[in-house]
Amino acid sequence: MRTSFPDGFLWGAATSAHQTEGNNVASDFWALENRPGSFLPQRSGDACDSYHRWREDLDIVRGLGLNAYRFSIEWARVEPVEGHVSRAELAHYRRLIEGCLERGLTPVVTLHHFTSPLWFQKAGGWKAPGAVEGFRRYVRAVLPILDGVEWVCTINEPNMLAMMAAAVKAEKREENVAGAMPPPDRAIADALTAAHRAAREELAGFRSGWTIANQNFEAVGGADAECEEWAWSREDRFLDAAASDDFIGVQAYTRVRIGRDGALPVPDDARRTVTGWEFYPEALGNAVRHTASRVPGVPILVTENGIATADDAERVEYTRGALAGLHEAIKDGIDVRGYLHWSLLDNYEWGSYEPTFGLVAVDRTTFARTVKPSARWFGDVASGRAAYPS
Ligand code: BGC
Repeated sequence: MRTSFPDGFLWGAATSAHQTEGNNVASDFWALENRPGSFLPQRSGDACDSYHRWREDLDIVRGLGLNAYRFSIEWARVEPVEGHVSRAELAHYRRLIEGCLERGLTPVVTLHHFTSPLWFQKAGGWKAPGAVEGFRRYVRAVLPILDGVEWVCTINEPNMLAMMAAAVKAEKREENVAGAMPPPDRAIADALTAAHRAAREELAGFRSGWTIANQNFEAVGGADAECEEWAWSREDRFLDAAASDDFIGVQAYTRVRIGRDGALPVPDDARRTVTGWEFYPEALGNAVRHTASRVPGVPILVTENGIATADDAERVEYTRGALAGLHEAIKDGIDVRGYLHWSLLDNYEWGSYEPTFGLVAVDRTTFARTVKPSARWFGDVASGRAAYPS
């Protein structure tokens, strides 16, 4: 028997510009990757060449039977030099939006997914006095191409972004989950919150919100107070800031246990994924419940959930478990509008191509796409062709 997800539920896959387009040369992350002696093991290079192959990507999404596609518009392409807005790049993203609409795919557009223009970073990044207004100007520049778009994510994982800033400064690639990192710089977190609010002001008429890295913090050994404090700066303050938003994006992969002295390592005997995170499909249902408890009444869109694995059957196992938890949460009355799997493609995982999160494999030399069995399974579940749970 097929359990039911709400009518109009969005079933899709997600990507981001820097991780898939290739040659994002005016961005801060490109500069970091290509610095002599960079601490990042691999550079993004051509990525999946989705900048040219986006039609093929959209055809795959549609062909699987999905009805939504999340992607990001790259600020570093739209405004490669401060104050110069590229009409050609805006036209490129307009074609992408129209490509979704023509195929009956609901576009879920992210305006900022971790990368910023290099000029922005050189001017002091999010802590610079003009940062929020700079982001607002970029959002204004993008508005004219958003016709027909309903869902707009302002900033992807501001909590992760703020934590990564410290890791980048220390030139240390964070192998660990976001939630185990040192707390975000408060000034950056405040600026991101203000930038999100500024963007939402500009986005009247759209459904706008931001997407949060949900870490499933769990107190161990009676460390409830420590856990609450730990979670506040790394996640909860960002959830609370969405209280009056049109929706909130939940992004969940795993959990982080918190003891009296902070984050505990993943236990030696735990099952792990390629990123070293604990295999924990329950993460999604828990994250949705936690988010709903912090911002009751705000509709939830699962904007990311998935697993880095070389074993595609494990992807199905993980996703099936995650969807079961999600379905239970919906049955309990939580307002969830869709599920967007991370990721459509095996893409650039911020320093390495090794962790493969994709439903679709990408040949690193020819960029040929190969749809994996997990993608077919997911498409069948999404379009009602397969019994679920099965
Ligand atoms: C990010 C993605 C990333 C994924 C897996 C999220 O933190 O939004 O860009 O690839 O998780 O690590």
